[in-house]
Amino acid sequence: MNNIHALRSAALSFTADPFLTDPESCYHYESDALIVIENGLIKSFGSYYSQKDKVPPNCQIKTYTDSLIIPGFIDTHIHYPQTQIIGAFGKQLIDWLNNYTFKAEVEFKNYDYAKMVSEFFLQQCLKSGTSTVMTYCTVHPESVDAFFEVALKKKMRVIAGKVLMDRNAPSNLLDTAQSGYDQSKALIKKWHGKERLMYAITPRFAPTSTHEQLTAAGTLWSEHPGTFMQSHLSENLGEIAWVKELFPERKDYLDVYDHYGLLGNRAVYGHGIHLSEREWHRLHESKTSIAHCPTSNEFLGSGLFDFKAAKSIERPVRVGLASDIGAGTSFSQLQSMNESYKIAQLNGVALSSIHAFYLATRGAAEALGLLDKVGSIAPGMEADLLVLDMKSTELIDFRMKYCKSVEESLFIQMTLGDDRSTKAVYISGECAYQKG
Ligand code: GUN
Ligand code: ZN
Repeated sequence: MNNIHALRSAALSFTADPFLTDPESCYHYESDALIVIENGLIKSFGSYYSQKDKVPPNCQIKTYTDSLIIPGFIDTHIHYPQTQIIGAFGKQLIDWLNNYTFKAEVEFKNYDYAKMVSEFFLQQCLKSGTSTVMTYCTVHPESVDAFFEVALKKKMRVIAGKVLMDRNAPSNLLDTAQSGYDQSKALIKKWHGKERLMYAITPRFAPTSTHEQLTAAGTLWSEHPGTFMQSHLSENLGEIAWVKELFPERKDYLDVYDHYGLLGNRAVYGHGIHLSEREWHRLHESKTSIAHCPTSNEFLGSGLFDFKAAKSIERPVRVGLASDIGAGTSFSQLQSMNESYKIAQLNGVALSSIHAFYLATRGAAEALGLLDKVGSIAPGMEADLLVLDMKSTELIDFRMKYCKSVEESLFIQMTLGDDRSTKAVYISGECAYQKG
């Protein structure tokens, strides 16, 4: 029997990229919308008055006031095994990796521990309004099994993969080119395409993989073309100098990944802060995406993301917003937007709320190659929805009284909001989180 129900509230969804078209015409906003959901998919989205007589009599309608329904947030780069080291003090990327990250990741050999953290992590995602993540696991296959088990139970659309790392890390975190290949292949077979789960081949970053391992990663991806690819790119100046030392024969950092066949649709690289024009051009040409990680870039002092270069109209690059927990400091994509705005300001760009919300919804879906599944409210899309409480704190409630437009109301939410802004989250049409 068909399972049909509907949500009534103000609602907003993007239809195009505001970086490339008139921002005014790239979203669909209804002050009083009806979103009809059938068997986990969106059946229709329009004004309540245009639709109310079309819904079947058995269709229950849940009404939300002082709310805005938007697509669930998508976090395009995050490390679930770093949940327990958020806010670890001190220094920049490489020191932070050695002092905190690698030590924390060792624990994920233990399946029960990995499952406990996965459960907490995904609950934090939902509480923050995030319905899809692309996450790193650790080098241990157990960390992948645990994460996917929990995500499967929650019916979430997630992308995850076993980290590949065969040098320049503690010995208890290393695999080999062969074992990394074999384990990843087995995990792809076990998980990729199961319900809403998807696999990402995950060489951590160029410095922790040998030539043999990067070759194996490229082979693996070409053998499983539906899977994803994730890694890190040009986050930190010291890191870039190190890559130059390790791969002197390559033109630049991006060219290392290019050489091993690791660029293309569904390849997502975290950061991309210090890129040359050649690299931006190549990202565009190869349809490779960048995950912009503002709170992380500030926390580790990595640098200021360059929106002008990334979204140049001649050769735009796909960009999705990301938290990069545990270097990032908040699960809330509202807080990622807040910090992204400030980074853009320091780099000569005033990022509007329309641009920012796009980066965390449809833009992120485009960056992941999932435009046909999540990130928009439209017929046929999976019903992963976030009900934002537009008056979640005393201050926001007060500030909203002086708000004059939809764009301004979004800007207030992204500046002052956080996980308290999440009134409810629907996953595949079912309520998966409710405040209080
Ligand atoms: N580069 C390689 N590994 C990592 C990581 O875990 N976090 C961040 N921020 N950058 C990295
Ligand atoms: Zn990262």
